[in-house]
Amino acid sequence: MRLVVFGASGATGRHVVTLASEAGWSVRAVVRSKHQRLALTGAGESTVGDPTDPDSVAAAISGADAVAVCLGISRRTRSPFAPLVSPPDLTSRSIGAIVQAMQRAGVRRIVYVSAFGAGDSWAQIPWWGRAFLRLSQVRHSMADHTRSESLLSSSALDWTSLRPMLLDDASGALPAREMRPGDSLLAKLSRESLARTIVAVLGDPSTHGRKVPLVPAAAPTPGTDGSPA
Ligand SMILES: NC(=O)c1ccc[n+]([C@@H]2O[C@H](COP(=O)([O-])OP(=O)(O)OC[C@H]3O[C@@H](n4cnc5c(N)ncnc54)[C@H](OP(=O)(O)O)[C@@H]3O)[C@@H](O)[C@H]2O)c1
Repeated sequence: MRLVVFGASGATGRHVVTLASEAGWSVRAVVRSKHQRLALTGAGESTVGDPTDPDSVAAAISGADAVAVCLGISRRTRSPFAPLVSPPDLTSRSIGAIVQAMQRAGVRRIVYVSAFGAGDSWAQIPWWGRAFLRLSQVRHSMADHTRSESLLSSSALDWTSLRPMLLDDASGALPAREMRPGDSLLAKLSRESLARTIVAVLGDPSTHGRKVPLVPAAAPTPGTDGSPA
């Protein structure tokens, strides 16, 4: 497998690069600066590119079999209320350029990191979660993931959108599984587990055309943690 990773310098993207390389895949990591290219380990190849620029994307995906998109709209700090430092349409503009380039190059497989709450999953967020999201800067990410998923849905690609709820940086954590009705929305999924799922899903045709909500495999069973059963 020849995999291109956008957002390779990010907290999830770095794990994807490492895990896919360990699996023996040929990995091209796309980063924003030469400095990051030098700092990134594990990738067979890393390249500086702008994910929103169609020409840059076309060059990055040349010769690829599959694409993983781990981009995120960055804030000044990890606080959900911190001001944005990325454009609010970063992910959808990138997906627009990536979809176009993939269709032209005949590359079909793409896995996109979205978020639970995007698109039709918004209705499954409880009122207090929706209030928090609306008040915080996270609303921009949610709106842009919704736009990205629409672009993927209307493309002819073999896409999968992964929708984790909350992420953290715990290591050695249990794997992710698909969310089931009644699961707690407060269980945090480690970015490393998310990356393992991305790598697994890339080779799983049963996920084509699906938006997959994710929780950690260790999430409490419905009704045992005070969450609604
Ligand atoms: N945090 C959560 O609890 C949570 C929950 C559910 C879903 N998610 C979603 O998960 C995804 C990945 O999250 P993460 O924490 O792994 O992300 P992250 O560590 O913040 O990484 C974001 C990536 O996007 C890149 N990026 C940001 N602005 C850019 C720009 N203007 N041009 C090019 N690249 C840019 C960053 O590059 P640099 O390294 O150069 O800045 C980095 O590679 C996000 O889309 C997020 O919405 C997060």
